[in-house]
Amino acid sequence: MVQKLEIKGGIPLAGEVSIGGAKNAALPALAASLLTEEEVVIKNLPEVRDVDTMLQLLEYMGVSYERESDSVVRMKAGAPSEDVAPYEMVKKMRASVLVLGPLTARYGEARVSLPGGCAIGVRPINLHLDGLKKLGAEIEIDHGYVQTRCKILKGAEIEFEQVTVTGTENLMMAATLAEGRTLLDNCAIEPEVTDLANMLVKMGAKIDGIGTRRLVIDGVDKLNGIDYEVIPDRIETGTYIVAGLITGGEITVTNCCPKHLEEVLKKMKEANAVLEIGEDYVRVKHSPELKGTNIKTIPYPGFPTDMQAQFMALMTRAQGTSVITENIFENRFMHVAELVRFGADIVIDGHTAVVRGPSKLIGAHVMATDLRASAGLLLAGLAAENTTVVHRVYHLDRGYEKICRKLGGLGARIKRVP
Ligand code: EPZ
Repeated sequence: MVQKLEIKGGIPLAGEVSIGGAKNAALPALAASLLTEEEVVIKNLPEVRDVDTMLQLLEYMGVSYERESDSVVRMKAGAPSEDVAPYEMVKKMRASVLVLGPLTARYGEARVSLPGGCAIGVRPINLHLDGLKKLGAEIEIDHGYVQTRCKILKGAEIEFEQVTVTGTENLMMAATLAEGRTLLDNCAIEPEVTDLANMLVKMGAKIDGIGTRRLVIDGVDKLNGIDYEVIPDRIETGTYIVAGLITGGEITVTNCCPKHLEEVLKKMKEANAVLEIGEDYVRVKHSPELKGTNIKTIPYPGFPTDMQAQFMALMTRAQGTSVITENIFENRFMHVAELVRFGADIVIDGHTAVVRGPSKLIGAHVMATDLRASAGLLLAGLAAENTTVVHRVYHLDRGYEKICRKLGGLGARIKRVP
């Protein structure tokens, strides 16, 4: 049943909200369970739809699992199953491609449906496949499926022609069981990539250069099982900080890792936000009128593309002009038309959107299109007068856990309606 979120806006938020585990660290960590026959326990999993989808997919691949609690899963990757990661599953979640590297490395083959494009862009996986080829895998694409085959992967030198987060993660996982040394150059260094590298080392992998764009991986015969706790979600953190700012409230975001969000916090302060930043919390204080601020999305440690829609929503309430440039995806401005329907003044020119504020936002019926665009609309709804209804809320449920409970806990008037 397609659900909607109904928000009564204009209420300054107050109180405390605790951040869950990072979706984009949990997904590769779950896929890494394929690399060993021993038991892997992953903790601090967020309660989001994508984690459920990844677990279903892994079960297809022969992984047995049991949920110890909402945030802990115990997994064991038995013998490979002939099953293929089917299209209907993979199209729901592109991160399904993260099983390619581990399956090929551990079982010598994998069959995964090619993820179609998605709302924010074509999002090819050529860099993943080129890298696996360099490690010695044969790659075949037929009827929309990609089939990899190899006896044993052999270490190689691979340079990514452009920074790719899941591409780096896929090849790092594959290289841990390849014969010999693999050099990965121009790697992504997002905190989630580093988190996966730390998990693999704990499993017995040999990886040097963690946290840098140059990873040196010496293959080992096998990896052992472990207990691993994923890092807090930096995008959920940024989203709730914006919720505090855009409603003119005073909230504390706890159980988070501010150092993973440095560029975002820097830009918020540039916009006059008053933030108290601790080791594992950020306190949003009453801020003077925010001022327009320019951002450009680039790979970490730059401003993250996954915070672009949320920051744009905030800038509709700021005094002056904000120039927002999206450099990562070719079509990540779907939230603009919807924000304009709230009354925002935003003009798109190619990869740039120019926001003029402050605009008075009036609640409206709006349509979510992708995970982070929906977050931007939800934030605008919290600030807008009257009532906002966000349709197709399943987009939000993919990456934000317990939205009504967490926002309700901050005093927001929000409920899920069929
Ligand atoms: C990861 O996607 C995240 N997903 C995305 O988060 C995030 O927006 C993105 O990184 C950028 O930070 C997960 O980690 C599960 P990329 P990913 O490969 O790995 C092009 C969210 O909201 N490219 O770094 O798919 C690609 O088209 C999601 O949680 C190729 O051309 O992103 C894009 O323009 C949305 N060929 C750019 O590189 C390839 O083989 C960066 O993509 C791979 C990527």
